[in-house]
Amino acid sequence: MSRLPALNIIGAGHLGRTLACLWHRRGIFAIGGICNRSVESSEDARAFIGAGTAVAGLNAMPPADLWLIAVPDDQIATTAKQLAPHLPADRQTLVFHCSGALPAGALTACTPAVLASAHPVHSFADPERSLTELAGATVALEGEASGVTHLESAFRALDCHCIVLSPEQKLLYHTGSVMACNYLTVLLDLSLQTLAAAGIDGDTAQKMLAPIVLQTASNNFTLGPERALTGPLVRGDIETVSRQLKALENLARREPESTTLAETYRTLGNAALPLAKRAGLSDTARRQMAALFSAHLNDTAP
Ligand SMILES: NC(=O)c1ccc[n+]([C@@H]2O[C@H](COP(=O)([O-])OP(=O)(O)OC[C@H]3O[C@@H](n4cnc5c(N)ncnc54)[C@H](OP(=O)(O)O)[C@@H]3O)[C@@H](O)[C@H]2O)c1
Repeated sequence: MSRLPALNIIGAGHLGRTLACLWHRRGIFAIGGICNRSVESSEDARAFIGAGTAVAGLNAMPPADLWLIAVPDDQIATTAKQLAPHLPADRQTLVFHCSGALPAGALTACTPAVLASAHPVHSFADPERSLTELAGATVALEGEASGVTHLESAFRALDCHCIVLSPEQKLLYHTGSVMACNYLTVLLDLSLQTLAAAGIDGDTAQKMLAPIVLQTASNNFTLGPERALTGPLVRGDIETVSRQLKALENLARREPESTTLAETYRTLGNAALPLAKRAGLSDTARRQMAALFSAHLNDTAP
């Protein structure tokens, strides 16, 4: 029987430990060395993964066929430089990272190893949940062809879909996912702040928002954004939109730290206008809304 390819991990945090655990359980890779900043953290990751050896530093890492560098993005290039002297000077080793924003070129220090990147469009906020929820996620692959092919079969084995991107596509591709995923979280936080200002407690607000937010997300993917957009803006209820904006501006005057709420309402209101037009908003209503959103906070009376 041929041996499993060995995978070393530098940075077994949220993402690193989840992928290592899944690849170990599916029998795709033999987990080798696990190196975090502290040995305690490496031990913790080893316990989660259920395989591998926690090591104190790169010097103690065993040889491997693949190296995953899953440290924070800003440290990937530096870590690649530190790893380079420990690699054989041939094309048998694959080094990859999982950043969405950086190309495989961030690993250039590790050449002549084969370099690639693989970004799962998934939030690893809770690694235990990700073990069951990663399946079905898309993984964006980029880098040298042989590395991309190898990683494609490794992620397919985890029931992920793979797409291949060029280095030039990566940054805007990742920005697009940040807008949908991370900024949705920010938007929900702003919504909770607005509800708190209305005197609605956090638990009630969460309970109230969960079904409608999930329904809206689902509507977007089943009906499309034009049909999913409901509410006063797309109905052309200018009075309602104007009164809501004024309420947020009055709030900002009373509590300057909540100025972001009014600013975001304006910015997203403006951004919604082309979509609302496609959804049927009249040109007259659109112009009135645009004038409302472009007025500066200080231009409007309390
Ligand atoms: N989290 C996500 O949802 C997600 C999704 C897609 C892609 N990614 C990508 O995955 C990568 C890792 O993100 P993450 O969220 O898993 O990060 P994370 O949870 O913060 O984990 C980072 C790990 O790197 C270790 N580390 C940091 N500096 C190190 C160094 N110099 N040497 C060795 N280990 C070091 C940390 O060790 P200690 O534990 O000792 O501090 C930690 O275990 C990033 O490139 C990110 O863009 C993440």
